[in-house]
Amino acid sequence: MNRARLSDPLPAVSDRLRERLAARLAERGIDPATAPVLPNSPEPIPALEAAQKRIPYAYRDAAPQHPQVAAWVRTIAETAVAPAAEDLNAAWGRPGRRRIAHGPSLLLWGGTGIGKTHEAYGAVRALTAAGCGVEWHATTAADLYAEMRYRSGVDPEHMLRRIMRVPLLLLDDLGAAKTSEWTEEITFRLVNWRCQNRLPTIFTTNLPPVRAHHMEKHLPVLRDKVGDRVLSRLSGMCTPVEFTGTDRRFQRA
Ligand SMILES: Nc1ncnc2c1ncn2[C@@H]1O[C@H](COP(=O)(O)OP(=O)(O)O)[C@@H](O)[C@H]1O
Ligand SMILES: [Mg+2]
Repeated sequence: MNRARLSDPLPAVSDRLRERLAARLAERGIDPATAPVLPNSPEPIPALEAAQKRIPYAYRDAAPQHPQVAAWVRTIAETAVAPAAEDLNAAWGRPGRRRIAHGPSLLLWGGTGIGKTHEAYGAVRALTAAGCGVEWHATTAADLYAEMRYRSGVDPEHMLRRIMRVPLLLLDDLGAAKTSEWTEEITFRLVNWRCQNRLPTIFTTNLPPVRAHHMEKHLPVLRDKVGDRVLSRLSGMCTPVEFTGTDRRFQRA
């Protein structure tokens, strides 16, 4: 009898999804390496128009350019589900619009000013244009901690839970803010929830995830900033994508 054993290697879900996607694209004669991620449509796309207002001015024309980010966008768009396909009560979802479901996450890392945030908003725009009813939230880690501090009229717990559960989250500049036990706990709860529920998240960071042999001892890495528990979850859920190049902001100046 042909029985699978626990020790047998299983392909990662994302690999299987990628294969399915590649097969579908091949059926339609589309080469995923060259197909544009944002459709070249002369018609305005209402969802994209609405999303534009929430995107910082510098990133309003962004489109994913890195092949790994473009591949991720396709995986997430392909696995987005129609609300009625999942829910017993179809009225809970807007019929006809797909919703982002579960899927892998991205960790965009590299020096300052080389286009990580640009790429991340490019991915958000592409998913919106692909017709996914994208409920998304974008924040830097520093803004998140600042917003979470107690103020009258704001329930930080409610806020964290809302951000934890949002279908698509961009958490920008992880590891850049000053840390404390409290910020570590917030980061841990957020990352842990999203890891356990496989909720697509784009993380960006200026720091290399872990220390490489050739790195100087005094240079910080993400692991030092967020701790082992968070780093372990990040490595389980994310495709790391390294960005290299020079600071575009300096170039422009
Ligand atoms: N591919 C790109 N095309 C045009 N402008 C870009 C591109 N990538 C980055 N930029 C611009 O360069 C600046 C720095 O990019 P940003 O994504 O903010 O860097 P990082 O997040 O890596 O620090 C921004 O003003 C952004 O709009
Ligand atoms: Mg940035």
